[in-house]
Amino acid sequence: MSAGTVGEWLAKAEKYLDERGVPEARASAEFLMAEMFGVSRPAALLQSARGLTVKETHQYWDWIKWRGKRLPVAYILGHQPFLGIKIEVTRDSLVPRPETEELVLECERLLKKVATPKILEIGTGTGCIAIALAQLLPSATIFATDLSKAALDLAQKNAIAQHVGNRIRFVREDLFSDKQGLRGWADLLVSNPPYIPTKDLDGLDPEVQREPRLALDGGKDGLDAVRAIAAMAPKMLKPGGALAMEIGSKQGPAVAKLYASLGFKDIVIKKDLQGLERFAFGLLPA
Ligand SMILES: C[S@@+](CC[C@H](N)C(=O)[O-])C[C@H]1O[C@@H](n2cnc3c(N)ncnc32)[C@H](O)[C@@H]1O
Repeated sequence: MSAGTVGEWLAKAEKYLDERGVPEARASAEFLMAEMFGVSRPAALLQSARGLTVKETHQYWDWIKWRGKRLPVAYILGHQPFLGIKIEVTRDSLVPRPETEELVLECERLLKKVATPKILEIGTGTGCIAIALAQLLPSATIFATDLSKAALDLAQKNAIAQHVGNRIRFVREDLFSDKQGLRGWADLLVSNPPYIPTKDLDGLDPEVQREPRLALDGGKDGLDAVRAIAAMAPKMLKPGGALAMEIGSKQGPAVAKLYASLGFKDIVIKKDLQGLERFAFGLLPA
């Protein structure tokens, strides 16, 4: 690979990514350069006249080629920030999303007055929700499940790295199976379940299609997992306990109806910061 300055490689990378239809090609090129140097994007730009070493050139172009194949940046780097926590991600897990950070902050608010909250999370993936809640609520005990063994191993690794491994129990369990344990145990059942209708999966951005189908596919109307989780919630929750789920932006009315049919009260469908209906909350009568 030929030598060149940071500025020259950025221009080359932007063109390469642009030709492959990568959205915000320049931002991706700058972000990956900054990550390679371990600095912010503006700091990387300040070095635009600096030459790259041969090793840096290979590393950078390797990342750019992956990005050109529409691999999400988080999979290229192997990590993603979530509420200030560095979460390791692999292709076995969904990349944590900013809207899920909002779900976690709402859950923290819901549990503020509970002295020793017990939390059940279904479909933990990287463990981002469970880990962030464990950090925000130091007296909480958390039980987190997933069907994917690889995701659970990753979640466990992330929890240990964030020093909350002793407060979260990760268990492999199918959300569609009947649960015998934990009846009436939880103050909160939280989930970001797969909620995309099967027929919409092939039309998703190439980056999203790189994520595990198990994490995305919500069945015919997208609500298979949502229905199963809502149906189990009254058994798992204490009286007065809360159910909190992330949902698709068009699913609010159906999910509100579902919660009501199961006896939940104080049902709220909340918008995310982009203005899309994204979260469904409900309380079990006390
Ligand atoms: C949308 S991802 C959410 C991951 C993570 N909680 C987050 O918010 O980034 C849904 C998760 O549910 C898990 N899942 C899908 N089907 C499941 C099932 N039948 N039983 C248990 N977990 C399941 C997937 O493996 C995936 O980790």
